[in-house]
Amino acid sequence: MAIIDTFKIDNTPDASRIWKEMGSSFSNLSQALCEFVDDAVSNFRGNKEDESLRRIVRILVEQQKDAVDIVVEDGGTGIRNVANAMTLAGVEEQETPLNEHGYGLKHALSYVEGSGSDWEVFTRTAESAALGQSYAMRAPYIFGHDEYPIEIHDDWPGSLGSTGTVIRFRSPMNVFATLEQSGKHKEIPFDRLMAILKEHLRYTYAEILEAGEMGIEVITKAGKDEMREMLVPLLPSWEDGSMVDIPKRKVNLGGGSLQVSCRYGRILPSKQNFCHYLGNMESSGVELRINGRVIEHGLLKTIWGRKVHNSQNAFLAQVDLTTESLETIPATKTAKNGFREEDPRLQELFKWIRANVQLPENESESKEQKMFRKLAEKKAELPGMTRVSLEEATFRTIGLRERMDMFTCQNDQVTIYEGKVRGTKASDVYQLKMYWDGCIQDGVPADEGVLVGGRHPKEVYRLIQHVNSTIGPDGRPYHFRLTTWKEEGITCA
Ligand SMILES: Nc1ncnc2c1ncn2[C@@H]1O[C@H](COP(=O)(O)OP(=O)(O)OP(=O)(O)O)[C@@H](O)[C@H]1O
Ligand SMILES: [Mg+2]
Repeated sequence: MAIIDTFKIDNTPDASRIWKEMGSSFSNLSQALCEFVDDAVSNFRGNKEDESLRRIVRILVEQQKDAVDIVVEDGGTGIRNVANAMTLAGVEEQETPLNEHGYGLKHALSYVEGSGSDWEVFTRTAESAALGQSYAMRAPYIFGHDEYPIEIHDDWPGSLGSTGTVIRFRSPMNVFATLEQSGKHKEIPFDRLMAILKEHLRYTYAEILEAGEMGIEVITKAGKDEMREMLVPLLPSWEDGSMVDIPKRKVNLGGGSLQVSCRYGRILPSKQNFCHYLGNMESSGVELRINGRVIEHGLLKTIWGRKVHNSQNAFLAQVDLTTESLETIPATKTAKNGFREEDPRLQELFKWIRANVQLPENESESKEQKMFRKLAEKKAELPGMTRVSLEEATFRTIGLRERMDMFTCQNDQVTIYEGKVRGTKASDVYQLKMYWDGCIQDGVPADEGVLVGGRHPKEVYRLIQHVNSTIGPDGRPYHFRLTTWKEEGITCA
């Protein structure tokens, strides 16, 4: 095949459509708000020595009829390069790894604009403060060469300090209600949504608030009522003695050295929280942070390749990567609501987690196994005992490998066991019946079937009696008996 000619097409992107589509990657208002907070955190960190800064992010939420008015203000240096800041993928002024893609501010503004609201951004640096001025940018956003107007104002709407950034917008109530994850966004009380928003912020920035790097103040206005609150970090409560702390250590995930710290163990499920540390499947697993800011949580299957068992729901691992270099850490998604899975640095991090974090055993199984191990040790000492086998397979001759809890042979008498750590149920009797039939099928008929448990309800006694009055597949009657761990001299594992 040969090229015989070429021609050119016009593929200039449709700017207004790009802008419209951009905001769709946030799944709730809080994620968009966090972009504003991230920029403030990054600015505080990038200007550690500047004592004139008010290291506070103040978020004012005022309830209106079908909307909320939101103002996010920081007492940072103000935006020094407004042209870069308003440019999509403008990465000329990155101060810390929290300024990653050059998207966040625009991304969040497009989300706001896409939900039908106007927005305005005021900013004032020390230079404009000296002139008594501030800059403002407002909706609609326009892409292009020398097209986007920056207003110069002769006043400053900020309330924290003489420099900083103030972002104002109105969020329709249905957008504000995306804070509730239930999917039922209708008529959720304003107070509840505010509580969820505060929890998100306390969780996302927990380590940063804990370290005292900055404060987040939330002011809520509803009618004449006004409430001010300095947010406290949302930290998990660990079960006594269950937490393992791996202090900061150097690791290289492929892009240079960084520090990893990790805490893991079992948490006490919170009764007050709405979304986090509830001890359920969604809020358990691994939580990944960069410099204290949460990027992703609820990871388990992605790391270990298996799902959490119900008994592992209280398992939490908090992993924090400390670094000043973007190269060293796995890349985040542009909405900062997760990591990019294909990044080899993320795979290295997962490898580190697998090597260093002990995933809890499936507790209910292991307890039962432990108790059977103790019972097996006891039985093995009895006179005439030639064989004690745990998890012996049955129905092998027809290709099944159903595992019996225990199989013993004493003076040529075979006993098979089924057990439960706590109370037994009628279905456990049938489980034993299956093992009994399986042993007959495999040519090792049992002489006795034993159901062991912490206790046995009446229906289990009745069913055992009934089964013992029936005939098995080899013409012999079933011969089952009940016992408890206590009777067998086994204490709880
Ligand atoms: N509140 C602020 N105070 C000071 N500078 C700011 C503030 N907000 C934005 N900037 C400046 O504007 C730039 C662009 O911000 P934007 O959030 O769009 O992208 P980014 O933070 O660089 O990257 P990311 O996509 O990871 O958020 C920042 O790099 C920073 O220099
Ligand atoms: Mg940003």
